[in-house]
Amino acid sequence: MTDEALIMAAEDVRKNAHAPFSGLHVGAAVLDATGNVYVGSNVENASYGLTICAERTALFSAVTHGALAHGIVKVAVVTKNGDMPCGACRQVLLELAPRAEILVAASGGPIRLFKITDLLPEAFENFEAD
Ligand code: THU
Repeated sequence: MTDEALIMAAEDVRKNAHAPFSGLHVGAAVLDATGNVYVGSNVENASYGLTICAERTALFSAVTHGALAHGIVKVAVVTKNGDMPCGACRQVLLELAPRAEILVAASGGPIRLFKITDLLPEAFENFEAD
């Protein structure tokens, strides 16, 4: 699947975002190595803290459907202005999709490509229990 097609999937699901508090509508799409695509939007909650980002909605759906057995190869994120994934989602990306290409675009705009190691340097990972 092309980068453009995965971005289109993220753009399409963005319309389902439930964002009555922030007004920021986010769409995400995850591609696994077999070609399956899993989409997600942000879903807000009046407690604020229970809100889930679009990236994590999509990634957790991918995991739920067995994508880790194949590997996650691309993750696309779309907002109106091309906002970057938050810190929490970067940590989740590192653990679930460490080799994925991360595609970020504003709605209708050019695609920017990132690696998670650039977005989250010196990360918390591979700890050893004491
Ligand atoms: N949001 C995402 O969906 N992804 C991010 O990476 C950052 C923030 C959502 C959460 C909340 O619904 C709204 O954007 C404002 O923070």
